[in-house]
Amino acid sequence: MQALKVVWTVPALILTAFVVVGNVLSIAEATFQEAPEPGFQWKDGAEVYAKVCAFCHEAKVGPTIRGRGLAPAYITFIVRHGNRAMPSFRAAEIDDESLARVAEYVSKAAANQ
Ligand code: HEC
Repeated sequence: MQALKVVWTVPALILTAFVVVGNVLSIAEATFQEAPEPGFQWKDGAEVYAKVCAFCHEAKVGPTIRGRGLAPAYITFIVRHGNRAMPSFRAAEIDDESLARVAEYVSKAAANQ
């Protein structure tokens, strides 16, 4: 009997969790649709680096860029215009504010070694 109770309690809890999360998400979605926020769409520069730049720059496809004190203006220029094997990113891919934050992050962050 006890085992049967546990067997049904767990899926019920999981189901409840899904319903709660689903409601929160749809409320969040509705809020976003009412007031679209232009501009910054990433949490911070570190997140842009981790999700966009690290793909190459932490995989030895691109050179190490953190911990070198590269100027933010230089980083911004390279990202917008590209340079040989480095692709350029348009504003639709990384908006100006996100780019400013990732450039500042890369400029100041330490290399991972
Ligand atoms: C598709 C792979 C790729 C991605 C994604 C990428 N890069 Fe690069 N990046 C490169 C490569 C390859 C180079 C070296 C280019 C060369 O010299 O041929 C480079 C060079 C650079 C340089 C010049 C480094 C130096 O030594 O002067 C900077 C600055 C830079 N990338 C910043 C970024 C930033 C910031 C991001 C994220 C927004 C990013 N890159 C995303 C591949 C990438």
